[in-house]
Amino acid sequence: MKYDIALIHGDGIGPEIIDSAVEVLNHIGSVFSHEFDYTGVIAGGSSIDKFGIPLLEEELEKCKKADAVLLGAVGGPKWDTLPGDKRPERALLGIRAGLELFANIRPAILYPPLADACPLKLEAYGGAIDIIVVRELTGGIYFGKRERVGDTAYDTMSYSVSEIERIGRVGFETARKRKKKLTSVDKANVLESSRLWREVMHGIKSEYPDVEYADMLVDNCAMQLIRNPGQFDVIVTENMFGDILSDEVSMLTGSIGMLPSASMGSGSLGMFEPIHGSAPDIAGQGIANPIATILSAAMMLRYSFDLDTEADAVENAVLSVLEKGYRTRDIAGSSDKIVGTREMTRLIIEEIEKQ
Ligand code: IPM
Ligand code: MG
Repeated sequence: MKYDIALIHGDGIGPEIIDSAVEVLNHIGSVFSHEFDYTGVIAGGSSIDKFGIPLLEEELEKCKKADAVLLGAVGGPKWDTLPGDKRPERALLGIRAGLELFANIRPAILYPPLADACPLKLEAYGGAIDIIVVRELTGGIYFGKRERVGDTAYDTMSYSVSEIERIGRVGFETARKRKKKLTSVDKANVLESSRLWREVMHGIKSEYPDVEYADMLVDNCAMQLIRNPGQFDVIVTENMFGDILSDEVSMLTGSIGMLPSASMGSGSLGMFEPIHGSAPDIAGQGIANPIATILSAAMMLRYSFDLDTEADAVENAVLSVLEKGYRTRDIAGSSDKIVGTREMTRLIIEEIEKQ
């Protein structure tokens, strides 16, 4: 089979980690006889430098035509002083909205060999962390009306019943395939949009009697994730709460450099990216952790192309390399073998070959 992938290298460490993911994909392609074709898409800071805006319409079109989009990271201090609608991050939001990718899936697994990198005591997490955050991605305060009037500024958080229902169902369906436990996170004691969120979730929960359902306020959830992360299976929440909680969850796994994500709409077209940023402080040094991007490519194989065996091969290879004690700097302990981006990529490919 042939698959068309729109490739967004982006800024900072983006190009280095995308190169790693492409190497891994090409290897998977040759082992399993698939052809991956890549179309470069310019977005973010590099697009601002070249075209003056974060995302050209024709670049977005390339994403729409592809079978999947793989993105490194966008942004950096160079563009920090630009007004909100001209910043590199707009490209990301533009693609999410343009492709109607309303469901952001962020799995956080603490790999046993990385247990030491988890900042919690073993008793607190019971030896295992395996949480998926399902984050609403095209609504809420990220896309509501915002304005500056005189010395005041406001942003609006709004949700419709249908927006809540479709992400709510992704939450239930995701939980159904796992430990069947769904926590819906909101701020219903204060926000009207959260009260609607809760009402809608309660309206659909009877359709999923096999899933254990609970509501949780977002401040409590932030605390519970540190107190007892083992209690969570799938968390479903609105856009900004999901942004914040997924960074918190990532740290439980040792490093934000480990976490992949998938952003899906109603069909098979998705965008896959690490949840971390462009890390301009370490760009170009060859030391960035490519694992989150490589695992994002694995999610692409699974979610957009339905290639579960191939995705398993990548994920197992990552685990084997970690088990052998190889680490990039961000996840290294004192006894680990520290490797750079390229070396880590090569080790992962070697493990794929051995399977
Ligand atoms: C993320 C990032 C983005 C977000 C930024 C870069 C716009 O933090 O994907 O979590 O807030 O959604
Ligand atoms: Mg974020």
